[in-house]
Amino acid sequence: MNQDQLKQAVAQAAVDHIAPHLNKDSIVGVGTGSTANCFIDALANIKHTFDAAVASSEATAERLKGHGINVLELNAVPHMSFYVDGADESDTHLNLIKGGGGALTREKIVAAVAETFVCIADESKLVDVLGDFPLPVEVIPMARSYVARKLVGLGGEPVWRQDFITDNGNLILDVYGMDIVDPKDLEQQINQITGVVTNGLFAQRPADLLLLGTSEGVKSLTA
Ligand code: A5P
Repeated sequence: MNQDQLKQAVAQAAVDHIAPHLNKDSIVGVGTGSTANCFIDALANIKHTFDAAVASSEATAERLKGHGINVLELNAVPHMSFYVDGADESDTHLNLIKGGGGALTREKIVAAVAETFVCIADESKLVDVLGDFPLPVEVIPMARSYVARKLVGLGGEPVWRQDFITDNGNLILDVYGMDIVDPKDLEQQINQITGVVTNGLFAQRPADLLLLGTSEGVKSLTA
């Protein structure tokens, strides 16, 4: 199977995982990226079995609406059973790096609300130690240089993502060379820098279940 087929397989596995738990009042949180897009396409096949979705980005909202899936604002949703999203990297404890597509802040907010976070990824995303993928940090524009200096102080090499503005009107610094031995601690340290909106480490709230697409089939990993 090629990478696209692995993404489709995990997307379908996520639909199969959540489908038995959905009812006419259920709200599904939906992530962003190419794997999440496969999930949206598979979710469309069962759109009559749940109430609505909450999107983690404008792009995801558009794709959901294109399939005729009702999209609600997060503030209108008191309870969400599942959030399903891809990742740029996952370790075996299901700590993640996300934000390659720049939607990390909304992704983290929707994931925080959900009872269960199901991460879907092909096997290339599973790593022993996080950090080969540059860590995205969303930054308020006027704080860009200050935050970059602070990130250098933490041992990273921040690079301003060119020609990119987040859905929240902010910038992204992609941080190379971070030694992420303690993801929870680093997530907290970076979020404490004034001017940082959030960073792409999902360790304070890791995934609950990782559906990993491999050449031997979809594997389920829990922390
Ligand atoms: C979007 O901001 C990201 O967090 C994506 O979820 C992540 O980059 C995975 O994307 P792919 O499924 O396209 O690899």
